[in-house]
Amino acid sequence: RESALADQFGRYVTYLRISVTEHCNFRCNYCSPEEGTPFFARDDHLQAEEYDRLIRVFSGLGVRHMRFTGGEPLIHPQILSLVGSARRHGVGKISISTNGLLLGRHAEALRQAGVNNLNISLDSLDPEVFARVTRGGDLQRVLNGIEAAIIAEIPRIKLNVVLLRQDNGNDLPALVEYAIQRGIDIRFIETMPLGEAGAGAQDVQFLSAAEAQQVVEQQFGPLQLVTRPADNGPARLYQLPAVRSQVGFITPISDNFCATCNRVRLTAAGRLVHCLGQDNGLELLPLIRGSNSDRQIAEAIIQGIWRDKPERHQFVNDPSRSARVFMMRLGG
Ligand code: GTP
Ligand code: 5AD
Ligand code: SF4
Repeated sequence: RESALADQFGRYVTYLRISVTEHCNFRCNYCSPEEGTPFFARDDHLQAEEYDRLIRVFSGLGVRHMRFTGGEPLIHPQILSLVGSARRHGVGKISISTNGLLLGRHAEALRQAGVNNLNISLDSLDPEVFARVTRGGDLQRVLNGIEAAIIAEIPRIKLNVVLLRQDNGNDLPALVEYAIQRGIDIRFIETMPLGEAGAGAQDVQFLSAAEAQQVVEQQFGPLQLVTRPADNGPARLYQLPAVRSQVGFITPISDNFCATCNRVRLTAAGRLVHCLGQDNGLELLPLIRGSNSDRQIAEAIIQGIWRDKPERHQFVNDPSRSARVFMMRLGG
């Protein structure tokens, strides 16, 4: 038994993705509405003590990997203490997914707090394209943030590139070269139909991981599949010839990886979401603000996951969902 959190399909949840805010200092067109996320009062967010308690409960249930996401996790004023909670409660693998804008300021402190795995979004190396996709983002500051993370020696650093044919279809070799030069890894992600542009990204912008892989192999030579540890994310990883860096492909559209799903998501509003591609979940906020013991909360989580974690995501069957559900809310 890998954890106390079993579902009906023989899988165990050992990985919790924790969104610490719905807000972001970018508004990437495949993730966020143009005007940003609607106002969301601080009282309606989980508070630091509440995160701490849930982290303790999930760790007690056997969750060994926690990732802080958002929105943008580094805009949370207590991000270091949240990371500290995970470390104090014995979580072995502590990760952050960030847009990198504030890394210059935070990288060193994050490593000291215990972050051992950092994923940084980087969709283009062209300042204009970058600004268009992120709706105003400053590429140079992100690149400085990446350098800061490398200097801080955060053990594992990966770049995340969302595949967008029109925006970065021609830049894949340049992005791989950038990662190689820095000895870090890079993953290409098929766009999921979430958010306004997410739906559009299924046609003109769609670029499959298979095609991206072909482009990379043409430029850099044959890729060698790396067998991944069981608890690793959805990426298929390959070793680039003769360098340190690995290239990964995340294929929610062309080849779903749900059979080995080991994760659930906690939103900033305190909802436990069982699958990125579906709406079912469990409202934890009323439970922790009520008079429940940790034991009772743990019991509700165990039952909720058993009862409601779906076998797989269903993006393709529900196009109307994309207009409603934003990645920014769900934490990627
Ligand atoms: P690692 O543990 O470092 O491999 O992390 P990760 O790839 O799980 O996390 P990251 O936050 O970097 O997410 C990369 C991409 O994978 C994003 O587009 C996520 O939305 C997507 N992703 C992560 N987990 C799932 C999942 O369970 N289902 C789907 N459909 N996509 C996911
Ligand atoms: N499809 C695929 N990936 C997405 N991300 C955000 N929105 C989408 C989407 N619609 C990615 C971000 C970040 C990660 C956490 O999720 O680019 O790298
Ligand atoms: Fe912010 Fe990341 Fe979403 Fe871009 S993809 S708007 S950086 S949360």
